[in-house]
Amino acid sequence: MLGGIAVASSKRRRMLQAGRAGGALLAMGLTGCAALPQSTIDVAGPVARRQLELLNFTTWLMVVIGVLVALAVVYVMLRFRDRGQPGRPPQTRGHRGLQIAWTVIPILIVIYKAVPTVADAFYLAETPPNAMQVNVIGHQWWWEFQYPDLGITTANELHIPVGQPVDLRVSSVDVIHSFWVPRLAGKVDAIPGRSNKLWLQADQAEIFWGQCAELCGTAHAHMAFRVVAQPPDAYAAWTRRMQDLAAHPVTPADPVAARGQELFTGKAGCLGCHTIAGTRAAGKVGPNLTGLALRTTIGAAALDNTAENLSRWIHHPAEVKPGALMPKLPLTDAEIQQLVAYLRLQK
Ligand code: CUA
Repeated sequence: MLGGIAVASSKRRRMLQAGRAGGALLAMGLTGCAALPQSTIDVAGPVARRQLELLNFTTWLMVVIGVLVALAVVYVMLRFRDRGQPGRPPQTRGHRGLQIAWTVIPILIVIYKAVPTVADAFYLAETPPNAMQVNVIGHQWWWEFQYPDLGITTANELHIPVGQPVDLRVSSVDVIHSFWVPRLAGKVDAIPGRSNKLWLQADQAEIFWGQCAELCGTAHAHMAFRVVAQPPDAYAAWTRRMQDLAAHPVTPADPVAARGQELFTGKAGCLGCHTIAGTRAAGKVGPNLTGLALRTTIGAAALDNTAENLSRWIHHPAEVKPGALMPKLPLTDAEIQQLVAYLRLQK
């Protein structure tokens, strides 16, 4: 008896859960996932807006055509239905008017759709003349951002000023990746030995989520990044800070952090892969760690950038991010804490 009630109530709970999941899916469909951080419908810049307008135009055109075709089918079904007459109905062959109509109308539709599509293709291919340049380089599994005019190199967080067009040259050092910030622009492939172009602009100060959109190996899903769109003065302050860090690298006063620096540029071997501008560490394999503590995330957005998470990351990179190429180093807990103390000063 009691078992029966338990079964019935668990069945009811499952039904309720299914109903709720269905409701959430329906809500997502109706709102176009606008509440999610990687939505192509909730746009925040001119490039994404143009692309959304084209999507809307095409969608509505298809809706109108779909409705007209459905109405025609219903009309034909009613008009030519079987009314019980004897024998075959009258047969039609080679109706010139119909043949012309169903050839010409689709051609007109294609031309009608081609006009804004071609116009947008030209608009998107033409980088505005006042754009600033950033080189984007895909790595398994993180993103490198170089500002050639400013001498700044950073990783996984692309800082841009609000309202400023940005000319991105997208490439890769290993396999094909795809650079995508859904709320700012459509995706573009990052291909080794090739420089693809994409420009984008952010209308408002916000942190936009980006994601590698091409299956590129084990940690593809963890190859995320952030675009930090800032008011021009905050952006200028960030560039000054980054340049300053390169010119005057942090010299830790605290003995724990000082020991961390020795480890970083010595026994721990971090310098084999990582750069901290202005120090002996000039490795190119892993992310450039200049200004690491200014970033909001670590491990290509795998974790929030806190001391605990940094320690966890150095302890077990492959646990945080399966497939990560960063090795688990033979360090003691105390040594990792020293490294963390040094890295937390990079700001
Ligand atoms: Cu890089 Cu997927």
